Amino acid sequence: MKKLALLVAAALMCASMVACGSSSSSSSGSASASGSASASASTSSEAVSSGEETTGGTLIMGTNAAFPPYEYYENDQIVGIDADIAKALGDKLGMEVTIEDMDFNSLITAVQTGKVDMVLAGMTVTPDREENVNFTDSYATGIQSIIVPEDSEITGPDDLEGHKIGVQESTTGHIFCSDDYGEDNVIAYTTGANAVEALKTGKVDAVVIDNEPAKAFVEANEGLKILDTEYTVEDYAIAVAKDNTELLDKLNTAIAELKEDGTIQSIIDKYITAE
Ligand code: ARG
Repeated sequence: MKKLALLVAAALMCASMVACGSSSSSSSGSASASGSASASASTSSEAVSSGEETTGGTLIMGTNAAFPPYEYYENDQIVGIDADIAKALGDKLGMEVTIEDMDFNSLITAVQTGKVDMVLAGMTVTPDREENVNFTDSYATGIQSIIVPEDSEITGPDDLEGHKIGVQESTTGHIFCSDDYGEDNVIAYTTGANAVEALKTGKVDAVVIDNEPAKAFVEANEGLKILDTEYTVEDYAIAVAKDNTELLDKLNTAIAELKEDGTIQSIIDKYITAE
């Protein structure tokens, strides 16, 4: 009888070890899918335990992939500075990153409700947003630029007064222009590209948008120029849910390491060529 009990106990232990083994090999499968293709089951689980303490698994990044060079589509893949930085952060944390594309104005709610774990969307840190989400340390700087037709009489922010201004909905361009020039003069579009389209067809007189997408849009569309002014200068950071301070801390540690070892700069340099 005793012997039988021992055998049963041993069998149970075996079973639980097998279960452990299979769960760790499935998490290594996701780690290799995140880019470290050569990592074997054993090295990827080592990578997890030597880095921050994580359970492996998946980090869902929310973004609005209509914002080149930070996030945009290349065929059916979302690429760009934010996608690459997220992947580098995932590698540090031993987690796979998947990307959810949505309207820019849905992102804060998505992270608040846990639909996504973090937002990387060239998102500017603002006091209003900080009431709803936590931001990591900043990883890049953005400037609100003004795009106008080449022959425009608008030469700077002061000239925007009384003109129709196109913006992307819920962005800082939208918020600041509404404050400065009145809501009636501001027309919000779902994407920056739509705002630029409206500029080309004369529905608006200027577009206010972050400098790097502004460059990309002007390059892709003839007859437009960017004014040599900085309407505002802003910090981009990652948004996480207020109650997820564990992820916030891990991301801040990883961001510091990726800044220190030059990874973030080299990702930015890959997409933005210095003038
Ligand atoms: N930096 C601006 C903001 O935070 C615009 C960001 C737009 N990003 C995007 N992926 N569409 O409001």
